[in-house]
Amino acid sequence: MAHIVATRPLLDGALDALRETHTVTVHDPDPSGDRTEEDLIALAAEADVLLSVLADPLTERVFAACPHLQMVAQYAVGVDNIDLDAATEHGVVVSHTPGVLTDATADQAWALLLAAARHVRAADQYVRDGHFERWETTVLLGMELADKTLGIVGLGRIGQAVARRALGFGMDVVYHNRRRANPTVERQTGARYVSLDNLLATSDVVSLHCPHNEDSHHLIDAAALERMKETALLVNTARGAVVDEAALVEALGEGEIAGAGLDVFEHEPDVHPGLLDQDRVVLAPHLGSATTRARRRMADMVVESIQAVLQGAESVPHRAA
Ligand code: GLV
Ligand code: GLV
Repeated sequence: MAHIVATRPLLDGALDALRETHTVTVHDPDPSGDRTEEDLIALAAEADVLLSVLADPLTERVFAACPHLQMVAQYAVGVDNIDLDAATEHGVVVSHTPGVLTDATADQAWALLLAAARHVRAADQYVRDGHFERWETTVLLGMELADKTLGIVGLGRIGQAVARRALGFGMDVVYHNRRRANPTVERQTGARYVSLDNLLATSDVVSLHCPHNEDSHHLIDAAALERMKETALLVNTARGAVVDEAALVEALGEGEIAGAGLDVFEHEPDVHPGLLDQDRVVLAPHLGSATTRARRRMADMVVESIQAVLQGAESVPHRAA
């Protein structure tokens, strides 16, 4: 009988299959914010399996202090919060949830794109504030998407799903990726490969779908924002630190770009205060995978991976390290 510790509750009943044969302890979110290394060490000191989220910093220090730990089951596709080398060194298997949140995240990118293009946030406020006294000819005019260019940075699974949706809106799609996608992907998505500079200069909407790493850190910096059209929108459902948030605040303030839809932030859960008072910015608290279906499937994958490890299976499904 293994001890499984979850740092957050999942959907109701999600871990029931594990409870039949193991001890499962589910912790409530910490009211004071995201957990620190010390918090995690305290939670996981006796755990065989830790069920983690992106906000849990799983560092070498944590692995060293949790000698029973056999596995980290990450409830996310990204493993940015986990020191994978340290996990391997300490003999800890890491699993994650790739694939099942692709459509949910692509939908969220489109929700933010449309909201920014058509002032949905300001329009809602306008009605609530009692300003809808008559139909107006020039109030809250937005960007029409047909024939506009969508620039996708990172044509992985999510980037491709965003591109496929763009076909329905009649947009031209260009993309930039570290490596050019294969011809089949290009054909299916209708996306044309261009340099990043070209993408920034020609896109009416730039949507980010690359992972965060050394190469993509602050990929969208002051110079990149300056290259964008003054009428362009930036959408980020990838990782906050792909964008230099201070530079973005400045670019929005100076009118170097027209607006943004942001699901992720450089220092989550903190949001740059300069973003909060911008009219043309739509914000969401990292909701990319937040559909019932995606969260249910993520939980199923987590359970499947944990069962494999605890049964000593030779190959662990959805393994990240
Ligand atoms: C969400 O950002 C994830 O990586 O699952
Ligand atoms: C989604 O699951 C991705 O890895 O792009």
